[in-house]
Amino acid sequence: MTATVAADDRTMSAAEYETWAAEIRRLADERGAVVLAHNYQVPEIQDVAHFTGDSLYLSRVAAETDAREIVFCGVHFMAETAKILSPDKTVLLPDHAAGCSLADSITAEQLREWKADHPGAVVVSYVNTTAAVKAETDICCTSSNAADVVRSIPADQEILFCPDQFLGAHVKRVTGRENISIWAGECHVHAGISPADVRSQIAAHPDAEILVHPECGCTTSVLDLVSHGDLPADRTRVLSTGGMADAAAATTAGQVLVATEIGILHQLRALNSKTEFIPMNARAACRYMKMITPAKLLHTLRTGEGAIDVDPDTAARARRAVEAMIAIGEPGRGGE
Ligand code: 13P
Ligand code: SF4
Repeated sequence: MTATVAADDRTMSAAEYETWAAEIRRLADERGAVVLAHNYQVPEIQDVAHFTGDSLYLSRVAAETDAREIVFCGVHFMAETAKILSPDKTVLLPDHAAGCSLADSITAEQLREWKADHPGAVVVSYVNTTAAVKAETDICCTSSNAADVVRSIPADQEILFCPDQFLGAHVKRVTGRENISIWAGECHVHAGISPADVRSQIAAHPDAEILVHPECGCTTSVLDLVSHGDLPADRTRVLSTGGMADAAAATTAGQVLVATEIGILHQLRALNSKTEFIPMNARAACRYMKMITPAKLLHTLRTGEGAIDVDPDTAARARRAVEAMIAIGEPGRGGE
């Protein structure tokens, strides 16, 4: 999805943005580059990118693009995934320090040890993992297809799900699967959106719709409130960031509470100016996502610096797991 413009939360003036954006597009054309941006990027980058969306959507674009170069405005594992899927293309990441606390919560060595304790189990890894972890994985998933990936695995096969405990718990709940072990990893941003945030925001906005990312620390308590009738099921949804964008475009609600990283609000507001989108926790910002600044993107396009390298053997093993995921279900940007 390419975001439309809601200029009021940009830090640049309109004139500065137009000059910068024209130069970004000119340089991208000159290089034969496609610019991809995750939904948590700063507003200017979401608006200038050729494609803006969630992890699964961007993986699909990276796999299918005809462009010579992919400039990835996101975090390291996302650019690595693009390189795994398009090994013959140059993939540029404007700042290699843009990491991910969730991807850091399991190493390839830890996963090998876990597998050794569960021989024969199928490993499902969230895409928020390093290439080395993906290489030890049978099939990847994102927040928008995790339940479908788990459902694709024969019911009698044990599953090891890593690294996100909250997404794992959500998948277990919606699939009813019992033979699934879940790694105790988390994203510090989403884990920080707490049940207390939910309680106070719902009390302040009792008629709001509620959109929750499955990585959030509050997912279970939101769904508990739904199951006890304290929140209406028809106004409460657990979605990927792309699913949130689709829901935002479609809603007629006056207010929507949004439990995920706050960068998504730019796009939700651009998609629907009639609804008020309110963060469940206004401090839920990912410092890694914000490392990709307009100046760094410009520098990358001017210099071609920042190429991502993945060892070919690791990439080949990781590719099987990512392609197995992409082959499951169409498309896209929605959620469970
Ligand atoms: P999605 O865009 O797939 O929902 O993932 C969210 C995320 O945390 C990426 O860092
Ligand atoms: Fe990683 Fe969390 Fe940042 Fe997403 S929001 S990139 S999962 S640290």
